[in-house]
Amino acid sequence: MGSPGEQAALSLLDQYSCGFMVSQVLFAACELGVFDVLAEAPEALGSDAVAARLGASARGTELLLDTCVSLRLLQVETRGGKALYENTELSGTYLVRSSPRSQHHMLLYLARTTYLCWAHLAQAVREGQNQYQKAFGVPSGELFSAIYRSEGEQLRFMRALQDIWSVQGRSVMAAFDLSPFPLICDLGGECPLQASELPKLTLGLLSTHRPPCPLPGCSGALAKECVSLYPGCQVTVFDIPEVVRMARKHFPFPEEGRIGFQEGDFFRDPLPDADLYILARVLHDWADEKCAQLLARVHRACKPGGGILVVESLLDADGRGPLTTQLYSLNMLVQTEGRERTPAQYQALLKAAGFRDIQCQTTGGIYDTILARK
Ligand SMILES: C[S@@+](CC[C@H](N)C(=O)[O-])C[C@H]1O[C@@H](n2cnc3c(N)ncnc32)[C@H](O)[C@@H]1O
Repeated sequence: MGSPGEQAALSLLDQYSCGFMVSQVLFAACELGVFDVLAEAPEALGSDAVAARLGASARGTELLLDTCVSLRLLQVETRGGKALYENTELSGTYLVRSSPRSQHHMLLYLARTTYLCWAHLAQAVREGQNQYQKAFGVPSGELFSAIYRSEGEQLRFMRALQDIWSVQGRSVMAAFDLSPFPLICDLGGECPLQASELPKLTLGLLSTHRPPCPLPGCSGALAKECVSLYPGCQVTVFDIPEVVRMARKHFPFPEEGRIGFQEGDFFRDPLPDADLYILARVLHDWADEKCAQLLARVHRACKPGGGILVVESLLDADGRGPLTTQLYSLNMLVQTEGRERTPAQYQALLKAAGFRDIQCQTTGGIYDTILARK
């Protein structure tokens, strides 16, 4: 037995080196539908009953469920010598597909796409570029052609990205009073989709157990939050043609009159008229030069007194935290051409493009906001 210091060091090392196993437990339980089966059951279930409903092995299911208990994703009670499992508040709220705050689709994307790119992290660090070629055999000269390399992959990405806004969309849109901006353009705004469309296009990659999904994950898109918070505003979502076409086909919201779509390339095409331009999780996809190019175009399109709202996960001033944002930044390395930035780095980019009155507002969540004026 080593000293307490050595034991602590080894335990930390163990925690880090097995971190991927923890992620896989979470991913597998989501993908199999463990949390959905338990949410639907009228009472706690034994592992044999869960295995039967999932069509999975009794041995594997028992091991998975017990590990989920240690991770506080499930709780267990022994009655009459039999272990009975239930969701915890965490899994019931964020992992059950039908929950309005579900992060299920983001977890599937992390499991099926992000995880495979991270297998090549060392190579990404060596080369300083994303790993689509190695992970999926696709060239990434055109970043979003690689990200949207099939219709199923595009839908998976779109659904995944919406999930966080069901939890954080309101605080992000409320961080500044946006009511002085009646006409808003969400550049690279993604588009909300009908949940019912997804399973058809992602066969084999979603849960084997698929309960009917009453459009939960679709409710968090930023444009929707915006029109609900600011009754006088209209939002144009501007995105590349493939995304807009899919959204037009599947757009599920009754607010349709106040949310419109325009297709185009924000690096090349004229930008829609607006009092405020939103760039949410867009700048982090791109290197400084491309950000400068895009911000200069937004500045040209912006009216005097008009605004720009940047929504991103912000690094601390010295770039050494928070850990989540540092990990996101490495994720930008393996999956995009960009990085996460400090408030000062965004401020410098905005200033160089001509914006003034740059203010930063933290939300207490993963994503913060920066508002600037022309
Ligand atoms: C990381 S996603 C962010 C989506 C959304 N703003 C959010 O925060 O959920 C980047 C978005 O930029 C869009 N995009 C990428 N290149 C674009 C271009 N050249 N013109 C317009 N939109 C683009 C993508 O289709 C995608 O919707």
